[in-house]
Amino acid sequence: MAVPLFDTVTPLRPLRAAIEARIAEVMARGVFILGPEVAAFEHEFAAYLGVRHVVGVGNGTDAITIALRALGIRPGDEVVVPSLTFYATAEAAATAGATPVFCDVDPATRNITPDTVRAVLTSRTKAIVAVDLFGCPAPVPELRELGLPVLEDAAQAAGASLGGRRAGALGDAATFSFYPSKNLGALGDGGAIATDDDDVAELARTLRFHGSRDKSTFVEIGYNSRLDEIQAAVLRLFLVELDGWAAGRRAAACGYAEQGLGTYCGLPAVPADAEPAWHLYVVTHPEADAVLAGLAERGVRARGYYRTPVHRQPAMASFAARATELPATDELARTNIALPMSPVLSSDQVREVVAAAAAATGQR
Ligand SMILES: Cc1ncc(COP(=O)(O)O)c(C=O)c1O
Repeated sequence: MAVPLFDTVTPLRPLRAAIEARIAEVMARGVFILGPEVAAFEHEFAAYLGVRHVVGVGNGTDAITIALRALGIRPGDEVVVPSLTFYATAEAAATAGATPVFCDVDPATRNITPDTVRAVLTSRTKAIVAVDLFGCPAPVPELRELGLPVLEDAAQAAGASLGGRRAGALGDAATFSFYPSKNLGALGDGGAIATDDDDVAELARTLRFHGSRDKSTFVEIGYNSRLDEIQAAVLRLFLVELDGWAAGRRAAACGYAEQGLGTYCGLPAVPADAEPAWHLYVVTHPEADAVLAGLAERGVRARGYYRTPVHRQPAMASFAARATELPATDELARTNIALPMSPVLSSDQVREVVAAAAAATGQR
C-alpha cells in the first residue's frame, strides 16, 4: 500500500456537503470579491490567532510583500531571511524592493536564531523574516529582542503555538498561505496577513487593492491581491477543523518517534515551549537521496525539500553575493527527507513508513 506525502482529499471528505452548501450560498449572493465571507473569515481567523487584525490576500507570497511594505520597508532596505525555506520568502522581500540578506539556521530546529541573524545585521537592516519552518515556530520573541520588526512567515505553521501563543501572533506581523496542501489549505490560492498593529493592517488593506481605500483615490502603488469569497467561505469551515487537524499531525509525529524512527534518521528537535503543527515531518540522513530511492521502492512517497537553498538559486545571485557560508543550511538542504504527513496519517501508515525507513537505511 503506497503512503502519499500529503493527503488533501481524506480530511475534506466529511465536509463535502457543507463545502458545497457554502459555495452555493456565495453563488446565490453573487458577491465574489471582498464581500461578507472575507470579512467574516478575517474576523474569525483574527479571533483564533488572538490578534486584532487579519487581512486576506491572494496568496502567501503577496502576503509577505504586502506585509513588509506595510511594516515600512522601502527600496534598498535590507531584510534578513533564511535560505532554508521556500523560494517565495526571499522573492517576496525582493518584490517589495528590499535586498534579501540570507542567514543560517539552527541545525537542530532548522529555524533562524538571534545568533544567526546577528551575524548578518548591518546599519541597513530594517526587518527580519522568521519562517516557522515545516510547522515548528521560530524563536520570534527572542528575535524581536534584536530591536527590528519581525515578520513571521507562518505559511507552514497554522495550528502551531509557542509559549501558549499561536504561530501567526508572535511577530510584529505574520503571513499565511492557504495553498491547498498547507495546514489550513483552501481550494485554490489564498493568503493572509495578521497583525496587532492598526496602522500596519490599514496599509496592508490599502495595498491589497491597488493602494486605494475607497476605490477612487489611489495613494500607493499597490497590488491586486485579494482573498476571494469562495475561498474565504470554505476557509471559515476549515478553520473550525484546524486544531483537530493539527492534533492529527502531532499524533502522527509522536507515532513516528514511538515506532523508533529516530534509530534510522535524525528527528526534528522541538523547542520546550513549542507545539509544532508539522506541515512537513522532516528527518535527516547523511545519504538522504539514497534513502529516498529506498523509500520509493517500498511505496513511501517522500521528498527532499529545498535541495538548492534559496541563496544558491540563479535569480538570487546578486543578493547572495554577500552570503558567505551558511553551513547548517547547506547540510540540511542535502540531508533532509520529508516523510508522509497529514492530519489523517494512520498508525498503520506510520508503521509502514518506519519499516520502510528501517529497510532503506539498513545497509547504509
Ligand atoms: C514558508 C513559505 N513561505 C511562503 C510561501 C508562499 O505561499 P503561496 O504559495 O501561497 O504564495 C510558502 C508556500 O508556498 C511557504 O512554504
